[in-house]
Amino acid sequence: MSTYTEDLRKVTTRRLIEMKQRGEKIACLTAYDYSMARLIDEAGVDLILVGDSASNVMAGHTTTLPMTLDQMIYHTDSVSRAVKRALVVCDMPFGTYQGNSKQALASAIRIMKESAAEAVKIEGGSEIRESIERILSAGIPVCGHLGLTPQSINKFGSYAVRARDEAEAAKLVEDARMLQELGCFAMVLEKIPAQLAEQVSKELSIPTIGIGAGGQCDGQILVMHDMLGINKGFSPRFLRRYADLSSVINQAVAHYVDDVKTSDFPNEREQY
Ligand code: KIV
Repeated sequence: MSTYTEDLRKVTTRRLIEMKQRGEKIACLTAYDYSMARLIDEAGVDLILVGDSASNVMAGHTTTLPMTLDQMIYHTDSVSRAVKRALVVCDMPFGTYQGNSKQALASAIRIMKESAAEAVKIEGGSEIRESIERILSAGIPVCGHLGLTPQSINKFGSYAVRARDEAEAAKLVEDARMLQELGCFAMVLEKIPAQLAEQVSKELSIPTIGIGAGGQCDGQILVMHDMLGINKGFSPRFLRRYADLSSVINQAVAHYVDDVKTSDFPNEREQY
């Protein structure tokens, strides 16, 4: 458990808002499976996002678009079984909420019933207002996601920093206000200028969770595989690597292969 995580009670959406009120930063990570979720929950993370980044780091796709509702439910169900303290949030995948609020509600209900998620995350602002309203009306907590929204990669054309120009920044501020007014409990701000993220974080009473959005957000999130150095091909400026697991795993496996090839493994104590 982190030395800063003194409160062992279950994290709820309400407690995240209280953390913002008392200036306590919110530490978030992604996870996609039981074993890793157990480890990062035990280490004191406050919120675990089962991100549709599973499409990249678990399935090897170049975008998040192929992820299906069934796949998100499978990953989230595995994570939920492991987690005792953190809030578990499931990303709604591309095509399950855009343009049809009834379908959005049906998708969110499936997630809550079949995966034991405690909230859903949904990408976008005014264009998905109806979907957010309908999901919230069923008592399902919603986390927004503004700035770089990877499900819209084909519209953006690149993963560059968003909202650098005035018009896009103004729309982001409006969307952030709207998400709060509708009743979202938090929002992810991805890859936007730090100054803009600071302005939004100061104005809102719900927490902002930044990724590439500077140090003034109320919390931070990273993709677990990136911060643990499992996925070494991805090195954006905002990423801090806390481990080099790809080297650790590579060395361990190479050692094992040598031991098998030389008949060193198994030895007499390792057999029946
Ligand atoms: O899918 C994901 O992992 C995310 C985070 C990067 C916020 O949306």
